[in-house]
Amino acid sequence: MTRRRAAPPEKRFGERLAMMISGKAKLAGVVGWPVGHSLSPRLHGFWLAEHGIDGAYVPLPVRPEDCRAALKMLPKLGFAGINVTVPHKQAAAETMDSLDAAAERTGAVNTVVVESDGRLAGSNTDGFGFLENLKAGVKGWQPTAGTAVVVGAGGAARAIVAALLDAGSPALRLVNRTPAKAEALAADIGGAIDVVAWADRDAALADAALLVNATSLGMRGSAPLQLDLAALPKAAVVTDIVYAPLETPLLKAAAARGHRTVDGLGMLLHQARPGFRRWFGVEPKVTPALRDFVLKDVAG
Ligand code: ATR
Repeated sequence: MTRRRAAPPEKRFGERLAMMISGKAKLAGVVGWPVGHSLSPRLHGFWLAEHGIDGAYVPLPVRPEDCRAALKMLPKLGFAGINVTVPHKQAAAETMDSLDAAAERTGAVNTVVVESDGRLAGSNTDGFGFLENLKAGVKGWQPTAGTAVVVGAGGAARAIVAALLDAGSPALRLVNRTPAKAEALAADIGGAIDVVAWADRDAALADAALLVNATSLGMRGSAPLQLDLAALPKAAVVTDIVYAPLETPLLKAAAARGHRTVDGLGMLLHQARPGFRRWFGVEPKVTPALRDFVLKDVAG
């Protein structure tokens, strides 16, 4: 006997989404180059379907030389706004009519809102996503708990360092393979940042309450972060911006020592919330169902 099974959730969501788009649909998307790897269309598509919103979120592959012109066209095309991903975040910051404090501080924009008068308002929600992910992942976690060690000095590290210090982190040790980049980040962001030499990174873990990998090390297909966790207090929380794989070699080693760990996928999910709320008028939630849905893309 053959049994009819209900269509899998992604199929049902896809059908509902297609049926719901009208001529009045609100439009958003993500600009990047390349953009094919972005999980954002799937993530926002889930929320649009979940809330039954007449809207669409599309990938926009835009070459670096076309970035500014593309952003300037958004109001003319009727977009409510967009996300900005690699390599356009800095160029986007320079193209905006206004910046929020986090975008100003990091010099990078990941979320654009087209205001009613057509002006482009840029914000950076990566730091927000990072903090929300830790709060959701570790009950009672507070940035004020103690010293944070951040490895990396790229765009992601910049957003994370600024967010931690703004949220009350009492001290921050910054470790990067290229010390000049860490020095530049510390000078730009200001505050209680100690730049630690790459060779001294193991010792820098002593007394820390939080360890963050903000480099691309540990990503599928790249080398792991070489770090001896022996000096890290057992109470310290360990997190990674890498989410493919979900359990990086660093998180695996930390979990084996009994640390509480938080994977990087949640940072991506939480950073998306403010944009969705502004474009589509609904406060979305990060749920296990959303994680599972987006994870199917990470695993694939
Ligand atoms: P993002 O904007 O995503 O943070 P990025 O600006 O390219 O990306 O930064 C990548 C980070 O990973 C940097 O801190 C980089 O260190 P350098 O500043 O020394 O380049 C770090 N990184 C990448 N590959 C590395 C490796 N093999 N060893 C050590 N650090 C590495």
